[in-house]
Amino acid sequence: MAKPIILRLINLLSPTASSVIPGNSRLYLCAWSCHYSSATGENFNQEQNQRNDGKWFTLPPYTATINGSALGQELSGSHPEVKCGTAATTPTTALKWVIRCCPELPRNLVQKLFRIRQVRRESASFGNNDLEDQAQGHRLRRVTAKDKMNSGDQIFLPITVKKLPIEKQERDCSTQEQDFIRSLVLYKDPAIIVINKPPGMPVQGGIGIRESLDELARTCLNYKYPESPRLVHRLDKDSSGILVLGRTQISATILHSIFREKTSRASDDMSNINKKKRILQRRYWALVIGCPRRPKGLITAALGKVVLDNGKSDRITIVDNSELSSSQHAITEYRVIGTSSHGYTWLELSPLTGRKHQLRVHCAEILGTPIVGDYKYGWQAHRKMKHLSCPDLEENSSKDIPEKETLPFGLNLEKGSIFEKHSHLHLHCKQMVLPNVSVALQNVQSSPNYDLSKVESLELDAPLPAYMQRSWNTTNS
Ligand SMILES: *[C@@H]1O[C@H](CO)[C@@H](O)[C@H](O)[C@H]1NC(C)=O
Ligand SMILES: *[C@@H]1O[C@H](CO)[C@@H](O)[C@H](O)[C@H]1NC(C)=O
Ligand SMILES: *[C@@H]1O[C@H](CO)[C@@H](O)[C@H](O)[C@H]1NC(C)=O
Ligand SMILES: *[C@@H]1O[C@H](CO)[C@@H](O)[C@H](O)[C@H]1NC(C)=O
Repeated sequence: MAKPIILRLINLLSPTASSVIPGNSRLYLCAWSCHYSSATGENFNQEQNQRNDGKWFTLPPYTATINGSALGQELSGSHPEVKCGTAATTPTTALKWVIRCCPELPRNLVQKLFRIRQVRRESASFGNNDLEDQAQGHRLRRVTAKDKMNSGDQIFLPITVKKLPIEKQERDCSTQEQDFIRSLVLYKDPAIIVINKPPGMPVQGGIGIRESLDELARTCLNYKYPESPRLVHRLDKDSSGILVLGRTQISATILHSIFREKTSRASDDMSNINKKKRILQRRYWALVIGCPRRPKGLITAALGKVVLDNGKSDRITIVDNSELSSSQHAITEYRVIGTSSHGYTWLELSPLTGRKHQLRVHCAEILGTPIVGDYKYGWQAHRKMKHLSCPDLEENSSKDIPEKETLPFGLNLEKGSIFEKHSHLHLHCKQMVLPNVSVALQNVQSSPNYDLSKVESLELDAPLPAYMQRSWNTTNS
């Protein structure tokens, strides 16, 4: 009867967790998400079997909590006066640890378990003056919600907690859908997964959105990891390219902090922008209509939102720097990387801040060269372009477009190049450089005074979607 549920559960369980709980742990709630490195394995299993008469189940041994947002700030180099040790460890209470390990247990239930004295702890270390404990060796003791955890402590919860029904329903993926989503993965390590986002797919769910990458990643990209990947930044639905996901709560917090930190630093400190080492670099490729007056430059123009049609739609626009209360600084570096005789230009765009529609509005309103396929901010330019369309270009190239690519989710990455009637958005996040968060985490965990400036970078590169590649080939031939 419950086959889909079991499959879902198997996805939720790490190999460690499933070996810890013997027997018929079919309805099993906790996702063991407190594990960053899941190295406990077999001996953990043995110990637990010997000691427990089936009344308890065990959470993984406590490891010091890393403050992800502080660590992210340190990696971004924004608070050099803060010593690394502060990022590493902040004490955690037993209550917080249980909530982190078992995010799916209702919080009031966890609190109740503590209140009715149904949570036990086995301490990893015993003080020399605690003779009774020494004599008796390891044993389970009651723990209260507020007790501080020590490294290596293990928490025991009543086994009955496992029998609670699962409430969270996750979307099932077909094998074909899963294979497709997995084919997008460019890089993965214990802390992050990077995918090449296909154009046309939203990253986040919402009203009227059936499939979002956020949700699909949860079911298709956890690779038996205890936690599901989480979004740490966005890309517009119609843009493509590098999308970074955090594989654990802690790595997601760090990444989120790095992405946010970058925006606030760039805005705060515009005079120093070119001198500082950039911890996070993003380079987009865009095909624009027309050609900017200068081959390269730095755009600094604040953006604000205007609401249209009585709130039915909105658009982002450049606003006067003097009205800064309702607007946001936005900074983009650009460079021409190729021009074509047909009136198009390839630009490399490096956003130093991450505002909504920043690149599209900066291209359209500051450079006067809207991005191909951006009908929202470049409608007029597209209309004018139609009149001077290039017959030879269309004729030669449209011949070899495959009739219909069958991809899941109704996607078609072949259609939409420059010489088709309806071009798709030509904006692709092609390269990204960011700190190797996995290395940073491992080192800080084993030695809190680790010098974060030594963490090496990850350099990522995402190939263009087929229609942009076709436009590139055609404009450069
Ligand atoms: C984590 O670090 C941030 C930023 O440094 C700080 O504001 C926050 O209070 C810290 N959180 C904890 C739990 O210490
Ligand atoms: C289109 O094809 C014709 C003849 O085959 C050729 O002369 C012309 O250069 C081609 N145009 C492009 C843009 O490739
Ligand atoms: C980043 O760090 C992880 C963990 O140490 C390592 O496995 C991975 O190879 C590193 N990635 C790169 C590109 O150096
Ligand atoms: C673009 O050109 C490259 C090399 O010239 C070729 O390998 C590739 O198949 C072409 N791609 C498309 C989509 O036309």
